[in-house]
Amino acid sequence: MEIKKDFSLKYLNTFRIDATARFFVEFKNDYEVIDFAKNRTLKNERRLILNGGSNILFKSNFDGLVIKISMQGIEKTGEDKNHVLIKAGAGISWDKLVEYCIGHNYSGLENLSAIPGNAGAAPIQNIGAYGVEQKDCFYSLEAVHIETGIIKIFNAAECNFGYRESIFKKQVKDEYIILSVTYQLFKTPVFRIDYGAIKAELKKQNLKNVTIKAVSKAICNIRSSKLPNPDEIGSAGSFFKNPMVDQKKYLELKNKFPEIVAYPNDLGKYKIAAGWLIDQMGWKGYRRGDSGVCKTQALVLINYGSAKGEEIYSLATDIQQSVLKHFGLQLEPEVNIIQ
Ligand code: EPU
Repeated sequence: MEIKKDFSLKYLNTFRIDATARFFVEFKNDYEVIDFAKNRTLKNERRLILNGGSNILFKSNFDGLVIKISMQGIEKTGEDKNHVLIKAGAGISWDKLVEYCIGHNYSGLENLSAIPGNAGAAPIQNIGAYGVEQKDCFYSLEAVHIETGIIKIFNAAECNFGYRESIFKKQVKDEYIILSVTYQLFKTPVFRIDYGAIKAELKKQNLKNVTIKAVSKAICNIRSSKLPNPDEIGSAGSFFKNPMVDQKKYLELKNKFPEIVAYPNDLGKYKIAAGWLIDQMGWKGYRRGDSGVCKTQALVLINYGSAKGEEIYSLATDIQQSVLKHFGLQLEPEVNIIQ
């Protein structure tokens, strides 16, 4: 285990913020993680577990230990007549896992194509897009308890998944290092293509039959038309969550702002499109130095090159204030902000 000092994190976070870690260590296999947990050096340092770095904003340098998770490997670990279980190392890129499933004709994750980040981080914030969340296919994960070095297997119920939420963001935050995740996929495709834009994209492909590959292609097209390419421009996807309100508040808002975009959920609540709120406040395409708001999706903040974490944060705060003042809604960041 090699511990590096004052290590640049610029290429380890998709916002491309040039922050440094006072100490840095990378784990490439499960044994290294267990060993670290059992004989911990730097025990009293503040620590941060970094996976794909696609949902994080460094406001400043990190005065502690950053642990980078890089465990690889994808394997089939079980199957029955209708399903397969696919296990991925936490450090595998999420899209590589999705591509593997598509390539083997296993259905379930195709709507989550082209999402940046690594497999091990997907359950932490229960990633989701186009009508699907990773929880819909989640089977289990293996994680090491950092204090004791004991491996625990979490099933879906134990993860307590919610909208961009799980136990790993709340009750057991920073207590476990996830080693691998296992998804249960269908051998016969089950398509989730009700989302309007998917139907329109599939139509363009002019197919006789819908396939998993075609759905994935449609999703990739939609994403690339709205979201910045993380290889070209720094961002962390949606910066804020869509606020959830009860019916009373929704009706009040609808009365005042008839054009408001909202989606009812099963719990009788309404998810308000934060992108719409921000767009209404005129922020879309706004630029201040090298920080800015995406021109095609107002929910995405971007780093044009050398923006500092604080600058992105200050822009986010201004956006929150304007939305609060006009709509009376408090936007909550979806991105993990590291002070
Ligand atoms: N809208 C605007 N202006 C904008 C952006 C959005 O008016 O600038 C309105 C549009 O009417 C649009 C609606 O808001 O129909 C919703 O926008 P979109 O379909 O793009 O989805 P979203 O709610 O903004 C969520 C996820 C995305 C995910 C998409 C697609 C959150 C916080 N974000 O965005 O996830 O890709 O749905 O399913 O739930 C991410 O988490 O990083 C992410 C990109």
